[in-house]
Amino acid sequence: MTIFFIFLLIIVIVVLTSMVFSDEIKATLERDPAAKSKFEILLLYPGLHAVIAHRIAHFFWKRNIPILPRWLSQVTRFFTGIEIHPGARIGKGLFIDHGMGVVVGETSIIGDNVTLFQGATLGGTGKETGKRHPTIGNQVVVGAGAKILGNITVGDHAYIGANAVVLRDVPANSTVVGVPGHITKQDGKKIDSLMDHVHVSDPMMQNMKELLIRIKHLEDKIQK
Ligand SMILES: CC(C)(COP(=O)(O)OP(=O)(O)OC[C@H]1O[C@@H](n2cnc3c(N)ncnc32)[C@H](O)[C@@H]1OP(=O)(O)O)[C@@H](O)C(=O)NCCC(=O)NCCS
Repeated sequence: MTIFFIFLLIIVIVVLTSMVFSDEIKATLERDPAAKSKFEILLLYPGLHAVIAHRIAHFFWKRNIPILPRWLSQVTRFFTGIEIHPGARIGKGLFIDHGMGVVVGETSIIGDNVTLFQGATLGGTGKETGKRHPTIGNQVVVGAGAKILGNITVGDHAYIGANAVVLRDVPANSTVVGVPGHITKQDGKKIDSLMDHVHVSDPMMQNMKELLIRIKHLEDKIQK
């Protein structure tokens, strides 16, 4: 009889969780080709577990309950490798793929249907106080290992390339890559000048040219 009730309780919890977090489960099914079923996602996706735990921690955080929200966040980090500060505001449909190493700071704001790959950081620069973490728009993808630092805004539908370090606002519908991050695509059009590695001025060459001019100038002076 007891086993039957435990089994029933598990089923009720699974059904309720999949109803409450249907946006996140749908997001995982749509954005991860490896995801096969809702049950698999509920059971095996650390990104979803981290979002569920964050919703609970954020609930307590908003009610100024001390210690418990941070404790929940740290326990979740231990099991999932994902650290979301309970103060972070997160929209619906967040999909954290793989998860390990993801950090979301206290004053971060994340819009709807955002994807974060492993190692993505929404952090502070260490120089600001108050609102010191990024605001991420809707439908943004943050590539693996990308760092978005400071109180900056990433516009809707932006794509942050893997390992980019973003320190300035990113307009909507643009792709940013590199360290520091620069825009390579906006509104579907490639921005060539920024990725033109052939015509980039070489600082060594520039110094050599300036030295040659000075040598010529001195030679002319000596000859006079
Ligand atoms: C940025 C990204 C979205 C590609 O965007 P895109 O607009 O299709 O870019 P392209 O592939 O046309 O490349 C445009 C230029 O950016 C460069 N580039 C692409 N991704 C880059 C990155 N992450 N860092 C630095 N440069 C990058 C390309 O080499 C290319 O340079 P070139 O014009 O000199 O040849 C993709 O490369 C990326 O980083 N995705 C992240 C996905 C991820 O994290 N997956 C993890 C799965 S586990």
